[in-house]
Amino acid sequence: MEPTTPWTLGRPTRSPFAMPGGLSGRLAGRVMLWTNRQQDLLDLLDVHAGERVLEVGYGPGGLIRLLQRTPAQRICGVDPSPQMRDLAARPHRAESATGRIDLRLGTADRTGFGDAEFDCVVSVNNVAIWPDLQAGLSEFHRVTRAGGRVLIAWHGGTRPSRIPRSLALPEDKLAHIEQGLRGLFSGVTRHELATLTIWSAVR
Ligand SMILES: C[S@@+](CC[C@H](N)C(=O)[O-])C[C@H]1O[C@@H](n2cnc3c(N)ncnc32)[C@H](O)[C@@H]1O
Repeated sequence: MEPTTPWTLGRPTRSPFAMPGGLSGRLAGRVMLWTNRQQDLLDLLDVHAGERVLEVGYGPGGLIRLLQRTPAQRICGVDPSPQMRDLAARPHRAESATGRIDLRLGTADRTGFGDAEFDCVVSVNNVAIWPDLQAGLSEFHRVTRAGGRVLIAWHGGTRPSRIPRSLALPEDKLAHIEQGLRGLFSGVTRHELATLTIWSAVR
């Protein structure tokens, strides 16, 4: 895959965790599935019956597997990596056929979905990789219905294990994400879970 230039780095990266492709991308996908446990984030997300949920940057699909067990009516996702799409979609062939689970190629700033199409939009471990933070947040605002929820999570939290600890962002970058959210959403709150720093907000 093409290298990406994350807003947090300001230079291109070919990290297989940022742009998973080829053999290293497949391996990175397996590692993420194993290490990025997201049950506590799902509890915070609190998906209700009938809701339409969008996950941005689903990677190998760990959170999609958890969302599948919620009463959500529709679970959609975008990720720019075709390999991650194949990996994430594999366990959900039946529900992809019915349209309940719909995993597409796309990015945070171009999801391809319509205005106000979701009750809830979530992104885990990719906000620091987006090339343009503001463009991504504006797209989240566009596709979330009025009163809907947005959750953005990045490595951190109160008990991060060794590798995620090294990925935690400095306070100025965390503040930048928070300011961007406050400019568009209400009720912006920062939560520290065990291994994730998360912002929740209301459209
Ligand atoms: C570190 S992985 C995290 C995957 C998954 N959310 C998890 O926590 O296990 C980052 C993912 O973000 C995707 N990604 C990269 N650039 C992106 C962008 N601009 N918008 C949305 N997703 C992006 C990558 O393809 C990759 O699957």
